[in-house]
Amino acid sequence: TRTTGIVVAVDGTSGSGKSSTCRGVAVRLGLRYLDTGAMYRAMTWWMLEQGVDVHDPAAVAARSGEPVIDSGTDPAGPTIHVDGHDVGAAIRTEQVTGSVSPVSTVPEVRTRLVELQRAEIAAALEGAGIVVEGRDIGSVVAPEAPVKLYLTADPAARARRRAAEEGGTDVAAVEKSLRGRDEIDSGRAVSPLTMAEGAVHLDTTPYTLEEVVDLVVGLVEAVEAHA
Ligand code: DC
Repeated sequence: TRTTGIVVAVDGTSGSGKSSTCRGVAVRLGLRYLDTGAMYRAMTWWMLEQGVDVHDPAAVAARSGEPVIDSGTDPAGPTIHVDGHDVGAAIRTEQVTGSVSPVSTVPEVRTRLVELQRAEIAAALEGAGIVVEGRDIGSVVAPEAPVKLYLTADPAARARRRAAEEGGTDVAAVEKSLRGRDEIDSGRAVSPLTMAEGAVHLDTTPYTLEEVVDLVVGLVEAVEAHA
């Protein structure tokens, strides 16, 4: 039995079922939940709101310290606020989705958000712990996490899921956008999406959400039993 909290680091491609899986696992295990993608989206929303050219890395870097980004880590109802505004819905628009990749490649943005993410993890470790999802959690944000997962899914299946999530119907367009973002996420110089050392790769394509949650909960419990 452990005496301190646990960190579950979950990375993977867009639409692999990461968010639903992570929330389900956190609820089941009584852990906090942090969606780092929402933080990159919140930063992007703020840049667009301020009229910053998101394709100008120097302009984005210069303003990256300004927005106050606050993540609510209850897995039953995660929240995100920027300068006190609830942006939970605003960060899911096509405009933000289409601009988040260039913003998240700016090193100053990453340094700032990784700092905020580590503060949330430290706070959660005073309790039972936290499930953290993103692209660089097991490799950069929390390389010491005792449980690391790398979730993927077949691109067509991912597109169907994400189209349903976003309320859209154009599956082909969603698939193209997902592939494009994955290429940028994987190909960038700073913290590219890769499978972290020690991560368990799970292809979620054949499983229901409930089955994936069960698999991950089992993995966390097995790791805890050996701690
Ligand atoms: O998981 P998501 O689709 O909400 O993430 C939005 C974007 O943020 C994604 O295109 C890549 C970026 N991101 C990142 O660079 N690093 C993270 N830890 C999380 C997300």
